[in-house]
Amino acid sequence: MISTKSQSSYKGLDNSLNNRGSYWITTFGCQMNKADSERMAGILQEMGYQEADNELNADLVLYNTCTIRDNAEQKVYSYLGRQVLRKKTTPNLKLIVAGCVAQQEGESLLRRVPELDLVMGPQHANRLETLLSQVDNGQQVIATEEHQILEDLTTARRDSEICGWVNIIYGCNERCTYCVVPSVRGKEQSRKPLSIKKEIEDLAKKGFKEITLLGQNIDAYGRDLPGISASGRRENTLTDLLYYIHDIPGIERIRFATSHPRYFTNRLIEACATLPKICEHFHIPFQSGNNEVLKRMSRGYTIEKYKRIIYQIRTLIPEASVSSDVIVAFPGETEAQFKNTLDVVKEIGFDQVNTAAYSPRPNTPSATWSNQIPEEIKVARLRELNLLVETTAKERNSRYLNKVEEVLAEKLNPKDSNQLMGRTRTNRLTFFQKQSARDYSYKPGDLVKVRINQIRPFSLTGLPIE
Ligand code: SAH
Ligand code: SF4
Ligand code: F3S
Repeated sequence: MISTKSQSSYKGLDNSLNNRGSYWITTFGCQMNKADSERMAGILQEMGYQEADNELNADLVLYNTCTIRDNAEQKVYSYLGRQVLRKKTTPNLKLIVAGCVAQQEGESLLRRVPELDLVMGPQHANRLETLLSQVDNGQQVIATEEHQILEDLTTARRDSEICGWVNIIYGCNERCTYCVVPSVRGKEQSRKPLSIKKEIEDLAKKGFKEITLLGQNIDAYGRDLPGISASGRRENTLTDLLYYIHDIPGIERIRFATSHPRYFTNRLIEACATLPKICEHFHIPFQSGNNEVLKRMSRGYTIEKYKRIIYQIRTLIPEASVSSDVIVAFPGETEAQFKNTLDVVKEIGFDQVNTAAYSPRPNTPSATWSNQIPEEIKVARLRELNLLVETTAKERNSRYLNKVEEVLAEKLNPKDSNQLMGRTRTNRLTFFQKQSARDYSYKPGDLVKVRINQIRPFSLTGLPIE
């Protein structure tokens, strides 16, 4: 997962065939939620809902929520407050909480916010139409039971027309002691290779240039699918899938996230080095630089194994960028153990690290431990780590100065309409002049050679070269 801090508001397209009123979706959390929101927006549009121009006049408001940390969970309650007030004067307003808070809280969410019409867990995203028809019958609906996710028959309403997310595995079977995801996302469910391929072929026909394969623990892909090769090797791994989908015409770039160090194989690195469309970026969370902490987190690898993976990547793919996730102040983390994390950040030299202070979550083992770290230490450690991450990211970025990078233009820079923005193959956000020196005007979807002339910790700027 690239970021759990982001939050985006979703607007749908017009559809006036069968006008049911207007909708608004606000999405919190990771790309899994964003991909679910795109599918739910697609369902609403097929049902005849149209885009609302803001959330305070929509007829249907859906919050797709995240509960990875307490501050993520609390956001939804403040958003709901405004809608609950509206519902007093607009009784037909449909109010929906979807996603991970919905799954975690279930019925107790209805007790806390009785104005809600529908509380639906992530496994029920594709069932939105059925659930809404129950709401239309006057019921208050809770859909949080374990559910076999049906192959998606609806067309997602995608946020971008250039880069598309493709879920390949839902859920997570790990049991990291701090993490709420397995309890809210359920057991791993891999999609079949054929339907993944079909979805990507459809995207390619619509003009998409880049796809990101998604899963909470993407290396687990295929474990629940049949298939053992003649040599006894499991087929249908992530690596097999990459070979299987690689040659789809029109798709120029392939990414995948999130990787778990425990399952990351040399075979996967070799595939990434061999297959030209696979981008040179790896997001592999390490969480802590100390083996004892990793053990208490139940991560299932040592920091030495983690470093071996990174060195293997850098041997085969020297230009690769590497990003990660880290938690500071896990229960019982000593000052020396925290320093081990800082040392790993320095030694590896990450291109980006998503950092967070440990947050105790419901139904997770470590939340009940007595060795919780005081708030002021959490804040101090997070600040120290963030400063280091910024410095290392800027140092890493200096390698781009005066280099020519391939950037896939995604959209106009919202702050400067003379510029386009996109990402390098290594996933670095890059801004560049829309107009080339010879007055050619680039547009979203173009793959542009850009000479980098400015670097910042988390983005680059450059000029297109012909
Ligand atoms: N499946 C991915 C990450 C899932 S959650 C993995 O295994 O790495 C995204 C990130 O949120 C995690 O990598 C972790 O750094 C952070 N996170 C998860 N639970 C947390 C908690 N209780 N407190 C603080 N950060 C947490
Ligand atoms: Fe959470 Fe661990 Fe699963 Fe990642 S692998 S989602 S951190 S339980
Ligand atoms: Fe948040 Fe659920 Fe993703 S808890 S990080 S939205 S899986």
